[in-house]
Amino acid sequence: MSAKTDEVFSRFEEIGIIPVVVLNDAKDAEPLGKALMEGGLPAAEVTFRTDAAEESIRIMSSNFPDMLVGAGTVLTTEQVDRAVAAGAKFIVAPGLDEEIVKYCLERDIPVCPGTQTASEMTKALKLGLTHVKFFPAENAGGLKMIKAIGAALTKLRFMPTGGINADNVSDYLKDDKIFCCGGSWMVKGDMIKAGKFDEIKEKVKEAAELRKSI
Ligand code: 3PG
Repeated sequence: MSAKTDEVFSRFEEIGIIPVVVLNDAKDAEPLGKALMEGGLPAAEVTFRTDAAEESIRIMSSNFPDMLVGAGTVLTTEQVDRAVAAGAKFIVAPGLDEEIVKYCLERDIPVCPGTQTASEMTKALKLGLTHVKFFPAENAGGLKMIKAIGAALTKLRFMPTGGINADNVSDYLKDDKIFCCGGSWMVKGDMIKAGKFDEIKEKVKEAAELRKSI
């Protein structure tokens, strides 16, 4: 792993919970970034599911230089380029797309693709990865599945995402196979849409406290 990737994954681990955000309007990026910073989770996986993603990454990265901002739901190498040019420090994908993984590795861009099965994880290891997303975590067998596969694939560490919430995040984070969890429960789209950034900040704070208590 390169020094740059190592540093990014160390920050993932330190922050512990990575908010997965869907922004429909880039004007929300600044107040959301502020809520995340002040709430104590200085990170965001901004998903490329909306047209506002690229500009939102640009706004968050430039307004909050200490924040770990990256791109999620990345499905093409063109999106990798756009995300990185906008300031993304990492790339997350829902599945293991070899083209995207290789493209990122060749350019020393930290990448964390989604995996679900032992076969996909083995492929990830072969590509040279040590950190993968486990998605959709709760539907794919949750912590029990990570423990079972992780017992065999000892070099891999996991970022479970999908179905993680305030009730189950602590159990995940207690397992040392897990380097962080991704989740949207503290940054739900309806709260963003309604401009409830104080409420978001409170939920982020609660999540950050759960993380600290591990
Ligand atoms: C997603 O696909 O949006 C992420 O995996 C987050 O999942 P969640 O909304 O269940 O936290």
